[in-house]
Amino acid sequence: MAEVTYNEATSTWLLQMSSSAYGFVLSGEARLPYHLHWGPLLDHEGLSTISAAGEVASSVERIAWGKEDPHEYVPWGGQRYDEPSLKVEYPDGTRGIEWRFATQLVVREDQATTLVLGLADSAYPLRVDLCYRVFDDSDVLERWARLVHIGESGTIVIRQAHSANWWMPRRDAWNLSYLHGGWGSETQIAETTLGPGKMVLESRRGTTSHELQPWFALNAGDAIDEEHGEVWSAALAWSGSWKLVLETTPGGHLHASAGWNDFDSPIELLPGKEIVLPVFAGLYSSEGLGGASRAWHYYELAHVLSRPGRSGGSPSFPSLITSTSVPAPVVPLPSLRPVLYNSWEATTFSVSEEGQVRLAELAANMGVELFVVDDGWFVGRNDDRAGLGDWTVDPKKFPRGLDPLIERVKALDMGFGLWVEPEMVNPDSDLYRAHPDWVFHFANRGRTEKRNQLVLNLARDDVADWVYKTLDRLLSEHQIDFLKWDMNRHFSEPGWPAEVGNNPERSWVDHTRHLYQILDRLRSAHPGVDVESCSGGGGRVDLGILSRTQQVWTSDNTDAWDRVSIQEGFSYAYAPLAMMAWVTDSPNPLTGRALPLRYRFHVAMAGSLGIGGDLTKWSRAELTEAKELVAKYKVIRPVVQHGRLYRLASTRRGLPLGAIEYLSRDGSELVVLAWWGIRRYRPWPTRLRLQGLETTARYRDVETGEEYGGAVLGQLGLRLPEGLDFTSMLVHLVHVEGR
Ligand code: GLA
Repeated sequence: MAEVTYNEATSTWLLQMSSSAYGFVLSGEARLPYHLHWGPLLDHEGLSTISAAGEVASSVERIAWGKEDPHEYVPWGGQRYDEPSLKVEYPDGTRGIEWRFATQLVVREDQATTLVLGLADSAYPLRVDLCYRVFDDSDVLERWARLVHIGESGTIVIRQAHSANWWMPRRDAWNLSYLHGGWGSETQIAETTLGPGKMVLESRRGTTSHELQPWFALNAGDAIDEEHGEVWSAALAWSGSWKLVLETTPGGHLHASAGWNDFDSPIELLPGKEIVLPVFAGLYSSEGLGGASRAWHYYELAHVLSRPGRSGGSPSFPSLITSTSVPAPVVPLPSLRPVLYNSWEATTFSVSEEGQVRLAELAANMGVELFVVDDGWFVGRNDDRAGLGDWTVDPKKFPRGLDPLIERVKALDMGFGLWVEPEMVNPDSDLYRAHPDWVFHFANRGRTEKRNQLVLNLARDDVADWVYKTLDRLLSEHQIDFLKWDMNRHFSEPGWPAEVGNNPERSWVDHTRHLYQILDRLRSAHPGVDVESCSGGGGRVDLGILSRTQQVWTSDNTDAWDRVSIQEGFSYAYAPLAMMAWVTDSPNPLTGRALPLRYRFHVAMAGSLGIGGDLTKWSRAELTEAKELVAKYKVIRPVVQHGRLYRLASTRRGLPLGAIEYLSRDGSELVVLAWWGIRRYRPWPTRLRLQGLETTARYRDVETGEEYGGAVLGQLGLRLPEGLDFTSMLVHLVHVEGR
């Protein structure tokens, strides 16, 4: 049970979570919040000791020639040179902020407690509410800010507005882990030592991006340890352009600030209006990167996935203070994801009713539970040069419409899903011919195409309305259970000529806000319809989109060996349940690498299993083997999708081996998946030491019946497959009762 308490005597706020705590003090005449602690659990006494021992500000100021007070939300103003959380411009030209304490409020919601601390400018009508939400069962602290224009006239221009600012404790050195990549190579882990100065991770692409993830993990000392040591990690819940600044100041403080990217983005705040910034969530773990990942995964399962009011949402607060001494309720985890088939790699744009029915029959026979028709089903869509925007069924490909196919799919006991790319338009489409002004563009400049398409300006109310109505119609007219929502290019020429003089730059933010609103409206109008977020693979994966969808497409690269590292990187920040992974054809269409069917399955079983190959070309033996493997996956699925994940072996250290263990929440079952790459020269490990087991318990291999002691599995380990490269292993162990 989390607790949020204020101590009058010391003026300290303390947020106690499952196994960590966060605290700050209200200090000085203006009673401003200064950070004190983010780390292991402690009490108010401990917090006030830290407060009393606080550095003598003047000594830092002497070195830094500027103020470096660890303000909870760094205002730009006065003699301050580090990264501000907020920079504004008032109507009379004043460009600095001077805060004073205004209000404080604790709000108890279902399973969570939120502290709202209000600060107001001493001379201008601007208030900021700093929000801190803790959950009864998690170490994740959600932070965000709300800016309110409390005056009756004048526009306040927001030049930079971050969601929150995290101060790290004093340490001699810091290592940063972050995720980078590109199309086909998403979520690669990178490590670096932070020196003096700034490290900026960002996207200016209008979306989260393949290139960098809005997530980081920090640890003090030389080496990252998977299961030991302190880790501070944070992630931004936003799917538009974002900026994350990690700064080591001249006085030796490290702080991390993130939010909407301020590049090209002034935002006008009008009288009486407010801006709610996205959640920038953080967690502290003393159990290494593995512990941090598990804390992220649980938080996503329990509090993010398909919960738009939460992460990245616009929560509203009832204005009452309630007691926090309510027993912690049990949080239901999201339902297990169905095994999916997707036709893209099998057919590309050549879809037809007969072709899809044939694939659906083969998929159903294999045990697939959800059949998804990808690109190519709508009018004019025979390649990527035309059709986007014209979302009506192509009568040449489906002369009887989509419904006979849907009925057949349902008769085969599968759900039906459809691919859409609603934010995009091909210039060769009826939509673009009718509304050339609906896309982002500047006057007197070209409109750069990528994959022959342009981006619709979803910030426009008419465009957002059209997108909602188009999808609402599609979902109302057909029995659709699932949408794969794609976005196959990033922004360019982000202009909005009709709004020149009226803050057209707001479209950077409003595009994503409207995207969220459309997803929320569709969810409430069609509650049974699940959505997968896709953006040319994994270009739109973040806590914001996860709160409005059920799963994400990880990468267009389905080569199983490449996937081992892409999926491992994904696992640092995001839960396996949300990670869609397909088994596709061999040789792989992208890389040309041939890999055994069993190996491809074992890699895809590490997340939410899908099949994406051309089943009409699979041999009878392959179809039979695939059916057995799908059945096997269904047995281990609860452990993989709801369990705790331990990375046992990693390719990031040059080892041609990846291995992951999943332990069920009650510890009664575990699954180990391991995948070899190409072994050369030196001897490689022969065993995997398992994690999280009871040392005195015994565990039985479900397949062979063999039994092992927990201590032996933890110390000596489980034997790895020997022999050829690209061999893989799946072991399912159950706790033997009564021993
Ligand atoms: C993107 C997606 C693919 C597929 C194609 C269709 O590249 O990532 O999975 O849906 O678009 O055009």
